[in-house]
Amino acid sequence: ANSDKNISSAVIKRLPRYFRYLGALKAKNITRISSKELSEQMMVTASQIRQDLNNFGGFGQQGYGYNVDNLYTEIGKILGLDKRNDMIIVGAGNLGQALANYQSFNEDYGYKVMALFDVNPKLIGISVRGVKVLDTDELENFIKTHGIKIAALTIPKDQAPAIAKKMAEWGIKGFWNFAPIDLHLPDNVTVENVHLAESLMTLTYNVHNREESENE
Ligand code: NAI
Repeated sequence: ANSDKNISSAVIKRLPRYFRYLGALKAKNITRISSKELSEQMMVTASQIRQDLNNFGGFGQQGYGYNVDNLYTEIGKILGLDKRNDMIIVGAGNLGQALANYQSFNEDYGYKVMALFDVNPKLIGISVRGVKVLDTDELENFIKTHGIKIAALTIPKDQAPAIAKKMAEWGIKGFWNFAPIDLHLPDNVTVENVHLAESLMTLTYNVHNREESENE
C-alpha cells in the first residue's frame, strides 16, 4: 500500500515508538507538539524526529509543530493499523495464553485475536479472554475462511518450521515468531522474531560492561 513511498526500514522500525508516544499525547488531549518537545520526551534528537517525520511530507509546520492527531493517524496508516488486523495464535500454552490475555493489542492498536490453536485436548475448547482454543485440524479452514494474514507462533521450536510452511501456503503473510528457531519462508511472507532471551542477553552484556568500567 505504501509502495509509492519508499520509507527506509530504519524509519519503519522507529514508527511504532512515535505512534506510542503520540497515542499517549492524544490521551492527554494534547493537540500539538514541537519537534523539540517531542525530542525531549522521547530522548532522540529533534533533527532525527524532523528527518523521520518529514518522510511523510508536510506534517510539521514552522512555529506550530506537529498536529498530534494528524500525525498519529498518518503513522497508523503507514503501519497498516487503519486496516482490520485479525490474527490467530498457534500454541495455546503459557506464552500463547499470555499474548491472548494482553488486552492492549486490541484496545490500543486494534488487533483482534480471532482464535488460538493447539493440539492438546485439554486446551481445545477452553476460552482465553473470550477467545476459543481450536484444534489445529481446523487451522487451514479457519485461515482461509477468515482471510487471516497474521499469526503468532508460540509452539515448541521443533514444530514451528513445518507448521509455518503450511500456514504460509494457506495464506498467512506475517509470522510473529516466538519459537527460538529461524523460519525459512517464501519472500512474500514476513517474519518478525521476538526472542526475549536475546534482549536479556544484551542487557547482561551492558550490566557487566558497565560494572567493569566502574571498577576500573
Ligand atoms: P508451552 O509448553 O506452555 O506451550 C506450547 C503449546 O504448544 C502447548 O500448549 C502445546 O500443546 C502446543 N503445541 C505443541 N505442538 C503443537 C502443534 N504442532 N500445533 C499447535 N500447538 C502445539 O510453552 P510456552 O512456554 O508457551 O512456549 C511456547 C514457545 O515459545 C516455545 O517454543 C518457547 O521456546 C517459546 N518461548 C519464546 C519466548 C521468546 O521470548 N521468544 C519466551 C518464552 C517462550
